[in-house]
Amino acid sequence: MQSDKSTLYRDLAAQLASLIEGEPDRIANAANMAALVYHGLPDLNWAGFYFTQGGELVLGPFQGQPACVRIAWGNGVCGTAASRGETVLVPDVHDFPGHIACDPVSQSELVVPLIEDGRVIGVLDLDSPKLARFDAEDQAGCEHLVRVFLGR
Ligand code: SME
Repeated sequence: MQSDKSTLYRDLAAQLASLIEGEPDRIANAANMAALVYHGLPDLNWAGFYFTQGGELVLGPFQGQPACVRIAWGNGVCGTAASRGETVLVPDVHDFPGHIACDPVSQSELVVPLIEDGRVIGVLDLDSPKLARFDAEDQAGCEHLVRVFLGR
């Protein structure tokens, strides 16, 4: 039997695919994806993108409180996911050395890199006001959403 969470991610992936179908503008698609994820997943206080620009991450479309605009490669959870080219799941942001606290409400975080032609072109960042909000199913679900976003 499938869990509610896997049904939720399957529905979100289908909605995302239809939202971005035929639309090549990546900023427009990122804006819609941020809104879809922010309103579609429970217990988030921030959902959005940073895009790689000149060796750093620059804030892209998001939902939530205003956030820091530039993150150096390797810094914070976002910069770590970008430099590793791997998803970083942080159950308690206070235990992550170098975590960048854009919104003090955030307790846990999930960052998925956007990898295209072997390059990290940005990251999807989700923050939650709940400790340990994200699990392996969220990681798999968000990695799938990112593949849909990248057209794969
Ligand atoms: N917490 C992130 C910074 C971005 S905000 O959460 C929106 C980090 O440590 O990289």
